[in-house]
Amino acid sequence: MKLLTSVLLAGVTAFPQSSDRMPVTDAEKIADALRAGPAFITKDATLPTLYKRWQIGRLEIGRSRFDSPLELSWPRTLAKEAPGSIENWTVNDDSAEDSANEKDMRHQQTLMTNTRAIPETFLGVGYTKDRAGLPLEAVRVPVPQPGADQVLIRVAASSLNPLEYKLADLNFFGRTPPVVLGLDLSGIVVAIGSAVRGIAVGDSVVAMADLNGDGGWVAEGGGEDGYALAREFLTVPKPEYLSFLHGAALPMCFLSAFASLCGTVRAGDTVYVPGGGGVGHLAVQMAARVLRAGLVISDGSTPQSIALARQSGAHHVFDYKRDDIALEIARLTGGRGVDLVFDATYSEAGFIETAKTVRPGGSWVALGVGPGKTTRLVETESPVDSILAERGAKHINVNILRYFSDPAILDDKAKAFLQRGMTLAMECAVQGLVVPHIGRTIDSSVEAINAGLQSLKSGRSTLGKVAVIVDHNLAAGMRGAIPVLLMAPRACEQRCLQHDL
Ligand SMILES: NC(=O)c1ccc[n+]([C@@H]2O[C@H](COP(=O)([O-])OP(=O)(O)OC[C@H]3O[C@@H](n4cnc5c(N)ncnc54)[C@H](OP(=O)(O)O)[C@@H]3O)[C@@H](O)[C@H]2O)c1
Repeated sequence: MKLLTSVLLAGVTAFPQSSDRMPVTDAEKIADALRAGPAFITKDATLPTLYKRWQIGRLEIGRSRFDSPLELSWPRTLAKEAPGSIENWTVNDDSAEDSANEKDMRHQQTLMTNTRAIPETFLGVGYTKDRAGLPLEAVRVPVPQPGADQVLIRVAASSLNPLEYKLADLNFFGRTPPVVLGLDLSGIVVAIGSAVRGIAVGDSVVAMADLNGDGGWVAEGGGEDGYALAREFLTVPKPEYLSFLHGAALPMCFLSAFASLCGTVRAGDTVYVPGGGGVGHLAVQMAARVLRAGLVISDGSTPQSIALARQSGAHHVFDYKRDDIALEIARLTGGRGVDLVFDATYSEAGFIETAKTVRPGGSWVALGVGPGKTTRLVETESPVDSILAERGAKHINVNILRYFSDPAILDDKAKAFLQRGMTLAMECAVQGLVVPHIGRTIDSSVEAINAGLQSLKSGRSTLGKVAVIVDHNLAAGMRGAIPVLLMAPRACEQRCLQHDL
């Protein structure tokens, strides 16, 4: 392995130093650092920047050669060259787009200092009648003023969640329409409330709007910006190395996985996460990479969803339409069953099957209102509790929506917990531990959003998440950037284990 020049080594000082981060910039140091433990390597900024700044012509790692930053495929190569040092790595070789990073940073800074006036109204996308259902419509609404603990965000990107078509169908928070949707957010803060201390105007942020509030999807055509409010405890600074699109794919799904798994999964546990949807594929990554579950089992119904579950770190992935999963799990666990099931599929039929895979004394965690209530319209008799009772297993329901439908539970402790989840989402993403897979990116237009929500509703969902570009100028530059940073998951794991709610 060839050593790079000392000129390149000078680049080391250009990066942040901390006790558990060691910036590494050349092949030999990377390999050594990976063997030793924590390492800090970026693909999407550090190395291309170094290449440009110091004009390094070629990098060699073992037998692999890269003639320009555009050819880098770090994770795959390093995994090959330093076996055992990288586990469960998600490979996404969008390197060509990543090289635009420096330009993006300048662009972002320009936009941050942009003093564009905040308009009085914007053309949002939402529902205008109680229980109108899909399709959503364009609706002109006032740009809201931040309350004391809120920030106003000029939205760069968002993502689709099943909650949005469910709200249009059922309006279950009892809102008086119009309601603008697009609750997962990333963008630039343009105004803050009087009690906001940790976020300033001009900050790039990732946030989740109150789920019983309004979102920031804007109807395309008028060339307008979209605006949404988020509370400070649900708003976190967007890390430099995370794109607006990837940031906006995280809040609702990450918080759901965080609330369900952190504090319930212990290192070494066997965990079954059925389905690899928006929540499921992040939950697999969290269990395998952050919480160090001993065995992670997942399933899917297509070759693509099965591949995503594997890429997310699942050790065994079955086809839930073809395989006898209870039998497979019994075989894998010596007849015992899994320590914990996290079922985010909202399928009553699925619930009954997954409950049968829990070991005696284990836990079955369901996201949302739970068995017998999944339609929210009628309650049905569900056998899930008796299946769990036979095993002496715990039934845990995690419901992020409750914080908004039942304000009494959104106390200071709950706010701190949600804020910790948002912070952890950013940390885990930039460390490459929990990275959303964006299966499709759409414009924020009424037509594209309706088509996307309709396909989520029909179960023909895109793999992973559907990202929504709200502001092309802001979001487009970093569309392909993914965090590629390797580091021991210690910090993330510790934050996860502080879970005490
Ligand atoms: N209340 C809350 O706190 C809360 C928070 C977030 C989400 N949710 C709810 O949780 C559910 C999941 O959200 P999401 O964003 O992950 O939705 P999503 O992206 O549509 O994912 C749903 C996944 O479930 C899988 N699936 C469906 N039936 C299955 C079965 N019988 N066995 C195994 N997998 C099955 C599908 O897999 P295939 O594509 O392979 O078929 C799909 O990938 C939604 O209903 C959402 O509204 C609730």
